[in-house]
Amino acid sequence: MNILLIGNGGREHALAWKMQQSPLCTTLYVMPGNAGTAEIAQNVDIALNNFAGIAHFVLDKAIALVIVGPEEPLVKGLRDFFHQSEALKDIPFVGPARLGAQLEGSKDFSKSFMQKYRIPTASSRTFTLKTLHEGLQYVEKHTLPIVLKADGLAAGKGVIISQDVAHAKQTLREMLENKKFGEASDKVVIEQYLEGIELSVFVLTDGKTYRTLPTAKDYKRIGEGDTGLNTGGMGAVSPVPFADHAFMQKVTQRIIEPTIAGLKKEGIDYIGFLFIGLMNVHGEPYVIEYNVRMGDPETEAVIPRLKTDLVKLLHHAGTQTLHEIEIEEIPEFATTIVLVSGGYPEAFEKGFSIEGAGEVSDAIVFHAGTTQNIAGRTLTNGGRVMAITALGNTLAEALAKANAGAEKIQFEKKYYRRDIGKDLGEDRGLK
Ligand SMILES: Nc1ncnc2c1ncn2[C@@H]1O[C@H](COP(=O)(O)OP(=O)(O)O)[C@@H](O)[C@H]1O
Ligand SMILES: [Mg+2]
Repeated sequence: MNILLIGNGGREHALAWKMQQSPLCTTLYVMPGNAGTAEIAQNVDIALNNFAGIAHFVLDKAIALVIVGPEEPLVKGLRDFFHQSEALKDIPFVGPARLGAQLEGSKDFSKSFMQKYRIPTASSRTFTLKTLHEGLQYVEKHTLPIVLKADGLAAGKGVIISQDVAHAKQTLREMLENKKFGEASDKVVIEQYLEGIELSVFVLTDGKTYRTLPTAKDYKRIGEGDTGLNTGGMGAVSPVPFADHAFMQKVTQRIIEPTIAGLKKEGIDYIGFLFIGLMNVHGEPYVIEYNVRMGDPETEAVIPRLKTDLVKLLHHAGTQTLHEIEIEEIPEFATTIVLVSGGYPEAFEKGFSIEGAGEVSDAIVFHAGTTQNIAGRTLTNGGRVMAITALGNTLAEALAKANAGAEKIQFEKKYYRRDIGKDLGEDRGLK
């Protein structure tokens, strides 16, 4: 079948890499893609907000499966657009409709959903400019630290954790009065701080049933030892050693199942991936947030651990027959190290030539922010440039291979964290 994958990051390169291995895949198109997807699939230069252009392309190329990588087209209603068209509505489409995408697009919506279905999460209240006064009082009575979250999409910058009442009040004012994050902070969720270790659980649902993918932990801070500014993600490890069977059973019973049941009960059209960001608080799981897509760079660690044919899996999801397929995992560790442009997540330069990817033999090189110039050279084109994934029987072995790969690739001002996975033990990961 012909397949359209939407997106241009390391996540999409990893999905494309896996889908290309399927005998069911005829032609794979990636819209817009990057220099890595160009090597294994056909990149398509259509803007993601050009829904009419996407529709035309899908019909023209007889696309039989659409997969949406990033959240933005979903929040903007790409699935709804397909649904409203006679010609497109029966094409299997993996990605939720606009209402379901609100689980990521609005933190207030997702908190209300969790409260309604009694899914464990930090206690919270939502305030607007109208209720600013109550919000300020709420902050005063709250224990510290306190967490303030812009309701809408804020490119990973909308969450402020404050240790200080005056600072928290000031931040609340900036968000509501001065529109610090534009419309995204028209509402602010104020919540309790949860102390623990974070991990991500990924679920694929067809709206009726669900399948759980391998767990992963990502590394968000730019600096080693989890210091410095937040980034899109500097590395990932799968599986997560501390997410043992007992913990995952709690996650399934208290979080995944009520979430899927809640979506059904609300009549929310949800076919797609659901990313559940969790905090492990002394062995008890709490939801930090939902995302309506796979994580990046977690995908680059999770997908290479699937034994299951990804096209087959996604087609079952898209045709609401997920009950007919199981996910099989490769019982090895996968570690991903992200190479970034020096300066990221603040200002950085682009356009540097990338060398050495061909010499990496023991690891998979996924492209993220890359492009090809007319001469066919691969150049840096973003903050996060490449994600290097390696598998190994032990965490240490996977890390050694990924680090060796990261070392071989060269571009000016390359930076990466050398401590990915070093905080995790070996013991319990593989059951
Ligand atoms: N209630 C909380 N307690 C502790 N840390 C939190 C809490 N909420 C968010 N965080 C931290 O802030 C990060 C960003 O919050 P999140 O809700 O995931 O927003 P987004 O990814 O949209 O920026 C989380 O990954 C987590 O590290
Ligand atoms: Mg998050």
